[in-house]
Amino acid sequence: MSDKPASVALAITGASGAMYATRTLAALLAQGTHVELIVSDYGRRLLRDELGEAAAVERLVPYLAEQYGDEVRDGTVTLHSNRDLGAAIASGSHGCRGMAIVPCSMKTLAAVAHGLSRNLIERAADVMLKEHRRLVIVPRETPMSLPQLRNMVMCAEAGALMLPAMPAFYQQPRTLEDLADFLAGKILSALGFEHALYPAWTGRASR
Ligand SMILES: Cc1cc2nc3c(=O)[nH]c(=O)nc-3n(C[C@H](O)[C@H](O)[C@H](O)COP(=O)(O)O)c2cc1C
Repeated sequence: MSDKPASVALAITGASGAMYATRTLAALLAQGTHVELIVSDYGRRLLRDELGEAAAVERLVPYLAEQYGDEVRDGTVTLHSNRDLGAAIASGSHGCRGMAIVPCSMKTLAAVAHGLSRNLIERAADVMLKEHRRLVIVPRETPMSLPQLRNMVMCAEAGALMLPAMPAFYQQPRTLEDLADFLAGKILSALGFEHALYPAWTGRASR
């Protein structure tokens, strides 16, 4: 058995919901995970537009430590250029155990559905599908067009787990952070991690 920490790819694209991505990244890092991070150009813009300059991708780990605590420093991050199709995660020989695209724009969804592999996010997602590894796609758009709905079906048929950015309210959230915790918890579960980001449903709502 390898004692190397688990390695997971996380892609951030230009769909609303940057907080879902930062909460997911923080929770993965706090578990000691090595994260292969890829942020599209519009993903970079989303981080700044929705969370402020402090969350710019180059300052993300200090931002996460400030928001979620120093445990995020238990993990490690490799930040890849989305233009680098020669990165290790562009190959099936890289031992990445899974990938999440959080949030996933309709543009990137369409590209994954059609196997375009034009940038590293699209290529790494294609690798996950061809290697039959876990690919979690967190689409965000409303309402959705028929092509967008069909692209989700195509991704699901190819083996991706569609996990829409739809937080639940039965855990009685009080803050935006509670909603982000719920979605990040769903993503971690889908990637095979245990977590305590939201309480398990016990049959009745409680606080
Ligand atoms: C502030 C802002 C919010 C956006 N929100 C969404 C969204 O929720 N869903 C979506 O599919 N596209 C959204 N877009 C459009 C995408 O960012 C755009 O289609 C972009 O080309 C996606 O590229 P990417 O997938 O490479 O990040 C948004 C753009 C901006 C500037």
